[in-house]
Amino acid sequence: MNRVFILLTISILFIVACGNDDDQSTNYWQVDVPEYFPEMVYTIENNPVTKEGFELGRMLFYETRLSSDNTVSCANCHQPYLAFADPVHVFSVGVNNQKGTRNAPPIFNLAFQSHFFWDGGVNHVDFIPINPIMNKLEMNESISNVVKKVNELPEYQDKFKQVFGKDSVNGEEFLHAFSQFLVMLVSDNAYYDQWMQGKYELNEAELRGMKLYESKCADCHGTALFTDGSFRNNGLDAEFSKDLGRAIITEYAGDEGKFKVPTLRNLAYTAPYMHDGRFETLEEVLDHYDHRVVQSATLDPLLVQANGELGIPMTDQEKSDIIAFLHTLTDRDFVSDSRFFDPN
Ligand code: HEC
Ligand code: HEC
Repeated sequence: MNRVFILLTISILFIVACGNDDDQSTNYWQVDVPEYFPEMVYTIENNPVTKEGFELGRMLFYETRLSSDNTVSCANCHQPYLAFADPVHVFSVGVNNQKGTRNAPPIFNLAFQSHFFWDGGVNHVDFIPINPIMNKLEMNESISNVVKKVNELPEYQDKFKQVFGKDSVNGEEFLHAFSQFLVMLVSDNAYYDQWMQGKYELNEAELRGMKLYESKCADCHGTALFTDGSFRNNGLDAEFSKDLGRAIITEYAGDEGKFKVPTLRNLAYTAPYMHDGRFETLEEVLDHYDHRVVQSATLDPLLVQANGELGIPMTDQEKSDIIAFLHTLTDRDFVSDSRFFDPN
């Protein structure tokens, strides 16, 4: 009697487990995040992700033939094992070994954001690839020519058939395929996330660091993305002739020296820091906020204290607690997810 009961239970458990597995495989190609994430901005209904579409986007991401001399792919400057930040360069290096002017940011959680690049020059995920492909210092190509190039390659013709039902694509389909890879790059499983979901205990230093982060940093680096998506001047320079930042796009003097507030997720992989990669370590970053903030016309008011002094004062203990907290935002699963690796 008992044995039958146990067998029955086991088979029921087995059926339930299989049911779950099924759910997971149907959810596998959805942008799935914890409920404390902000609303998705990307209109996924217009470009639903399929396994084949994702794989096509991944082929394109690792495709050097998207550049004028067939040597540079997106991955040259955005490596999966570094949360898609640049592996070696303060300023990324594109075709003909040309040096860019800004540090390559990591790439993840794009589907939840409305502006991309340090100056917010692109406002839709589908348009992201156009920028590096056409940039003379990066891939130095035109969209019409890269589309022509890939349409002529047999390995792409097969994929286009699977995804779009025909063996060549137009510019819009090319960009849609790219987006199916880009929007799937979701980082939401750091220790912080596991703590949020009650699956992990943060230690005392990390919890103290979190409190300090909430009072000193979250006004700009807020939400589960650890950026509020705004453009701000965090007091790096007194004048901006080297890089006007957001004002390049808006042509408004009040935006000079403002840059997109970057995420604080995965900082362990993404040094050097700031739009020009000027800081090598998080200690240097915190020293900047503590006592190196400089005055300028567009300095963010949050960096001016009530007594008129600049910056965010912190003791050494507070700095080390904040750094301990920042390390809880490291997502090891994201950087080791083989779905995102070079398929070749
Ligand atoms: C030569 C190096 C280089 C190549 C190649 C390159 N990028 Fe970038 N990428 C950068 C740099 C540098 C920035 C920051 C530029 C800026 O803000 O003006 C950037 C920014 C981005 C961003 C903005 C992230 C954010 O949070 O705002 C995305 C997304 C991105 N690149 C995706 C791509 C894709 C997709 C490709 C391939 C089509 C690509 N990149 C090719 C260097 C590169
Ligand atoms: C007034 C808004 C503001 C506040 C407050 C603020 N930041 Fe920032 N932070 C920024 C902006 C803007 C940038 C990018 C600046 C640039 O590159 O020109 C930035 C960049 C950074 C970077 C570099 C990230 C990267 O990928 O390059 C780190 C790390 C950082 N901040 C941590 C902190 C910490 C920790 C605090 C609290 C002690 C803090 N920030 C407070 C606006 C702010």
